[in-house]
This record gives sequence, C-alpha cells and structure tokens, in this order.
Amino acid sequence: METIQSILASRLAAAAGDTGGIAVTVQSAQDTRFGDYQSNIAMQLAKPRRANPRQLAMEIIAKLQVDDLCETPEIAGAGFINFRLKPAAVIAHFTALAADDHLGVPSVPQRRIVIDFSSPNVAKPMHVGHIRSTVLGDALARIARFLGHDVITDNHIGDWGTQFGMLLVAWKTILNKDALDRDPIGELERIYKAQNELCKTDPRQLDAARGELVKLQDGNEENDAIWKEMRRLSQVQFDEIYSRLGIHFDRTYGESFYRYMLRDVVNELYHSGTARESDGALCVFSDDSLPERDDPFLIKDENGWKPAPAIVRKADGASNYTTTDLATLKLRVGFLPRTTDKPCTTDEFFRPDEIIYVTDGRQQLHFRQLFAIWRRWQPESTAKLSHVWFGSIMGEDGKPFKTRSGDTVKLGELLDEAEERAFTTVTEKSPEMPEAERREVARIVGIGAVKYADLLPNRQSDYVFSWDKMLSFQGNTAPYLQYSYVRIRSIFRKGGIDPASVRPAAGAEHSTANNAATLAEPGELSLAKKLAQFGEVVPMILDDHRPNLLCNYLYELAGAFHSFFESCPVLKAVESARSTRLLLCDTTARVLAKGLDLLGIGVPERM
Ligand code: ARG
Repeated sequence: METIQSILASRLAAAAGDTGGIAVTVQSAQDTRFGDYQSNIAMQLAKPRRANPRQLAMEIIAKLQVDDLCETPEIAGAGFINFRLKPAAVIAHFTALAADDHLGVPSVPQRRIVIDFSSPNVAKPMHVGHIRSTVLGDALARIARFLGHDVITDNHIGDWGTQFGMLLVAWKTILNKDALDRDPIGELERIYKAQNELCKTDPRQLDAARGELVKLQDGNEENDAIWKEMRRLSQVQFDEIYSRLGIHFDRTYGESFYRYMLRDVVNELYHSGTARESDGALCVFSDDSLPERDDPFLIKDENGWKPAPAIVRKADGASNYTTTDLATLKLRVGFLPRTTDKPCTTDEFFRPDEIIYVTDGRQQLHFRQLFAIWRRWQPESTAKLSHVWFGSIMGEDGKPFKTRSGDTVKLGELLDEAEERAFTTVTEKSPEMPEAERREVARIVGIGAVKYADLLPNRQSDYVFSWDKMLSFQGNTAPYLQYSYVRIRSIFRKGGIDPASVRPAAGAEHSTANNAATLAEPGELSLAKKLAQFGEVVPMILDDHRPNLLCNYLYELAGAFHSFFESCPVLKAVESARSTRLLLCDTTARVLAKGLDLLGIGVPERM
C-alpha cells in the first residue's frame, strides 16, 4: 500500500519538472493548523532556477494534480507548500489501511542486512551496559524484517582473546568447584578478578597466563575443554536473559569462530600494503586520503595532528579485537578465506548489502578505523557498514548507573526488579485479578518498560535510568501505551464485539458500503490521519537506525486516540458512526500492538 506522503511526493515531482537531482520530499506537518503535509521543494529549487520561491511555489501548484486528495494547496512563509487532506481521501486511505495486514506499511526493495548486536563477553555477567545494544539491535531487526528485508542477526560474543590465558591459570589454581556449581558466572568473575590482582604484583603469573594462552591457541586438549566449559556456562546465562527478553539470534559464531583466519588476515594486510611494521607491531596508518578531522588514523593534541595507527598485530605476535573484526567482515561479506583449519559452508557467507554493528559510543574510533581499513584492503566491496552507537545509562544522581554498593548492575537482577515493581503497580490497579495473571501482566509491563525507556531517548544521548518514570502509566512510557491498548480492548469486551468482525475485507476501499463512513468529527478525522502515518514512520527508522521515531509516533497516536475517545462516544453512538468508531478503535489497537511488537514489547489483554 502506498503512503499518502509518497503519493504527494510523486505528484509534486511531476509538477516540479526537472529538479536537477534534488529529491522532492513531503513531510507530515508539525502544526496541523496549517495543513497535514508540507514541502519545501519550491525553496530548494528557487536558487538553482534563480526564481522567487513563492512565485515558484505558485507555478508548481498550478501544474499540481492533487484534487482527489487535498484542498487547493496553500503557500506559507518563504515558500512552503501546505497540503490539507480532503476527508474523503482520509476515509479511503483509512479503510484500505484497516484491511491491510501490514497496516499501511509499504514494502521496500529487499536488502540483506546483518545485524551484529548484544555481543556480551564470556566469563562475565551481562550487565546493564549490554541492554541498549540488545534492545536496540533487536528492534532494528524486527523493523527491518517487517519491511521485508532479509535479516541475519549475529551475536558476536567475546569468547576469544588474551583474557583466557588468565582465566585458564585461575581455573587450574583458585577455582572453587562448589561456587562454580552454585553461581557459575559469579565464580568465573571472581577468579578472573583475583587472578588479575595476582598478575599486578607477580610477573610470573603473567608468564603463566601467556603460557596457558599459547597452549589454548595451539589446540591443547585440556585447555580447549576448560575454555569450552567456560563458554558453555556463559551461554546458559546469556540464553536465560535472551529468553526473558524474547530475543533470538540466527547465529552466535563468536570471536573464536574466526581464529583460524587471523594469521592470513594479518599477512594479507601486510602484503597488500594496507599495514606496515612499526616498533615490532603491524599497524595501519593514515593514507592521507581524508581531511585531518575525518581521518580515523590521526589524533589531535596541543601540538597538532599526530598519527593514531590501528594495531592489527601486537609486538608479541598476538592479534586483537581489530584483527578479529577484520576476519569477521571478510567472512561475512563473503570472500573465501584462503586457508582455514575449519572449512566454511556456503551457508556461512552472508553476502550482505549492509552490516549494522550496535555497540556503545566508546567504540566509535574502533569502528571508524575498522571500516577505513576494510575499504583500503577490499576496495571492491560494496557492503554498507554502519556503526549504530549509543550513549550511557546514568543513575538519577547523574553518574553512571550503578548499584547502591557501587557495582555494575547485572542485567538479570535489573529485569527481576522491573517485574517486581510492575507487579506492585498492577496489584494496586487490579487487586481482583488472579495472582498468576497479575504476574504475567507484570512481566510484560516490567520488561516492556525497561526496553521502552532504552529506545525512547535519542540513542546517542545518555539517559537517566528512573524506575518511577519508566513504570508510570502517564507520559511517554510503555505502560501508558500498553494501557491505551488495553483500554481499547475493553471497549470491545464491554460491547461483546469481536474486533475482527468490524474489519473491512481486503480491497474494501472501493466498496461504497465502507465509504459510507464519514469521519465527521474532528477527533475521528485526526485519529484517521495519525493512523495513516504509521506507514510513513516505519520505513524512515532504518535510514538512520532510530527506533525512537516509532516510540514518538506511538505516543502521538495514543494521544490522538484519547482525544477522540473523550469527544466521541463509541458503543453508545448511532449507526453508521458506531461502526466507523469501532473500526478506528480496532485499527488503533492493532497499530499500537504492532508498533510495540516492532520494538520487542508485548501487550497484555487486561491490566
Ligand atoms: N564484545 C564486545 C563488547 O562487549 C562487542 C562486540 C561488538 N561487535 C563487533 N563485531 N565488534 O564490547
């Protein structure tokens, strides 16, 4: 189904003539007093055409054919063209949308997108810092799939690297087996920290760690078995969290999967001239192709720009995070690795159009360097590489979010608290509900609240974690949207009406029966217009990877619904207003549920 916005844009493009490559866009209006949609194309074209923008707007309007959709467009300000939809056009679009399984969201040309997200580290608890990557990545995956893209989600867990040298020594010397049985990740975390302390004072410990690491890398059986056990124990913990969050990954190769490729990657970087030797390490330096401030291999200090090379092989011969990410890219993009101990199946080559990496903002330099090295090393690769980064979660005191004792907040404990707090609220609101149901509702509301609080702010800004705010039934929160949904469902229960029975059949926009709907009340008309924007907002999210656009849209939709519901009785209305209003209610509920689902958030039927 085409959106009103895109119909207007193509009509406008036809009227504007040759724009010399300037894209003709139409925005939904911020202030609906002046219209429903707006375009600044006349202002954009005025300069190259050396015309007066208002004059040009007038000429465009004279050629524009939109009377089936809008009143005569008006010119505002310096040359904006404003469109006000005719009620008949809104009715036709709304009826078609209500009959559409995709709720008016158009399908877009399919692309293959790999989304690398969550990616926690083995032998460490998943903490609150991992939640944003997990929630954001999952929302992007759901949205991309809904738009018709071919999406592969890949959890790039940190299961390889120098930390395993220390973990192996610790496992063999200070591990407490009982503690490991009781709380595997807690014990792994404890021995890692303890070993780290030992290494600080005793250089022999460092040598021991290096020795164990080399043995692991050389395939020593005992070390391999211990490493696998650490990985298994960690995965159990990750899976528990993912199942609570309702998140699924298509692949979990992890960093270790690429370990046999590392040597070849380093060699190729060297032989292709991408990397060169410096102080025993192999490094990638600036190639001077970019202005200094855009060059990821330069850093500025008080004396000016200085080299900030990316290391791909350390002086001791070890590869690092960058090397692994280069190998990962190579495999993902689908160039055959020359020699690996582990042959790859074709299924493992993703050949994506885009790879999205979701991590916190502190990895910006890593990804800028990674992408730049890749372009130099594999100039023929066309895959779009996107680093979708986010800010930190802060406590209400303005400092990084920590427990009262100053530790990082473990994700499992955070989710427990969310459910517990939601349970208290749900119990206050609906004490008559059976306890099992209250628990289930609290689970949906609690987890939903945490996810929504994470998705709502602009992803690049830090946000303050506030239980009271995120669990409130007022304001832009998941509970408010879930409650709006529940309220609509209760209208149908009260009226004894099956929501499916009010929906038009597919293709119904052409039948006169449905066009009997009038949307005579301003509340009805505004709600129908808001519903039409769902199909305009969803595709936009992937342009800049910003699910918060959807949060804001859903909040506006809920607001439009509540205004409508205040001014328009539904069950007590006379026909045909009653049918139209029931359809508005049902469609709003469907869009709210679908919109929340795209964010990974569920809805209860009652609360
Ligand atoms: N394991 C890393 C961390 O916890 C994130 C990995 C992100 N993905 C990647 N391909 N580098 O910081």
